[in-house]
Amino acid sequence: MPVPNQSGELRYQSGFCNDFASESLPGALPPAQNSPQKAPYGLYAEQLSGTAFTAPRAHNRRSWLYRIRPGAMHHAFEKIDNRLLSSGPFNQVAAPPNQLRWNPLPIPAADAPTNFIDGLITVAGNGDPASQVGIAIHLYTANCSMQDRFFYDADGELLIVPQQGRLLARTEMGELEVAPGEILVIPRGVRFQMVLPDGVARGYVCENYGAAFQLPELGPIGSNGLANARDFLAPVAAFEEREGEFQLVAKFGGQLWAARIDHSPLDVVAWHGNYTPYKYDLSRFNTINTVSYDHPDPSIFTVLTSASDTPGTANVDFVIFPPRWMVAENTFRPPWFHRNVMSEYMGLVHGAYDAKADGFAPGGGSLHNCMSGHGPDAATFDKASNAALAPHRIDNTMAFMFESRYLIHPTRYALDTPHLQKDYLQCWHGLKKHFNGQP
Ligand SMILES: [Fe+2]
Repeated sequence: MPVPNQSGELRYQSGFCNDFASESLPGALPPAQNSPQKAPYGLYAEQLSGTAFTAPRAHNRRSWLYRIRPGAMHHAFEKIDNRLLSSGPFNQVAAPPNQLRWNPLPIPAADAPTNFIDGLITVAGNGDPASQVGIAIHLYTANCSMQDRFFYDADGELLIVPQQGRLLARTEMGELEVAPGEILVIPRGVRFQMVLPDGVARGYVCENYGAAFQLPELGPIGSNGLANARDFLAPVAAFEEREGEFQLVAKFGGQLWAARIDHSPLDVVAWHGNYTPYKYDLSRFNTINTVSYDHPDPSIFTVLTSASDTPGTANVDFVIFPPRWMVAENTFRPPWFHRNVMSEYMGLVHGAYDAKADGFAPGGGSLHNCMSGHGPDAATFDKASNAALAPHRIDNTMAFMFESRYLIHPTRYALDTPHLQKDYLQCWHGLKKHFNGQP
């Protein structure tokens, strides 16, 4: 069960993948060793390795778990139906160079109970989990909590962006609650159960097959700014000792597998290490922008990055467009027209995005793939080209982008669904020719 503080709220540990330590019973954490001959309370010691043993120290992630039963104790896995959840290689259909945009998915009807795992639908992706390269982009809609079911993803780390309804993630390391406006990251392999405190939930998931997310380098910005490490929160240890008939679901090799398990795997009494789920409140982002002229590249809004083997060229970046002041002089202030070698999937948590007058709804998404032109629609272009350039604040908005070096293939579902907007390209057709040969 959660370990409440005096106000009854969940407690957290602050810092980005620090070497945390937490015990939910006094003395459960061995004082000096990782694997003593006998761990306190008769617990089993188990190491969970999120990077190769020999990964450089700055990137090495692992945690030691002290648990009632080791993670190996379950029955055999058998493959189960994937529904609309799919994995790389993403070769179901040819990826069109067309700009694509989708309306939000509806919450499942009350007579169709759908938990977080059942409700995952894959809309796009690249790379494949076997090579540990690329991402999958899923949407989730759910109307019930996971009850006697637990899940882990061996294929990738899950970056979850709630858009509607809170999520309570009960994980091996403890509990984290996230609301729209916050994000949750669950590392590869960590077992969890998702509870819906508000009864319904909708949002986005970036399943990261590649290197674990890390904070971006800050370069000349200096030692502070963007997402500050102290604002990331890891859970404190919390365990349940529960026996019964449960199901452990694994995403492994692009497939879903299920095994019977006769106890709750959330039985970690104490743990230490830097491999842990964490949450982050996007309103804590320290937004950097111009105070002179021009609209800087959106990389200034990077919250987290998953590196590829080419420096500065991410497997995926998670980028946000938060409320901020616009003060640039003599400048077209919205995002400029753009073609990019990187591929861009965008979502919207709430409010409106400053490059589009309408059509991009909270819960919806858009995809502008490698070298496909995009930018402000005609209405936004006209307005911004003629606006008085007084300082003004963009409020009530939180758009985000998963930006990847690899082409993002839509799934067959994403191209066939009625939620795909057939008229998206029309948003640029109203742009007028202003050229008249005169300077
Ligand atoms: Fe772009």
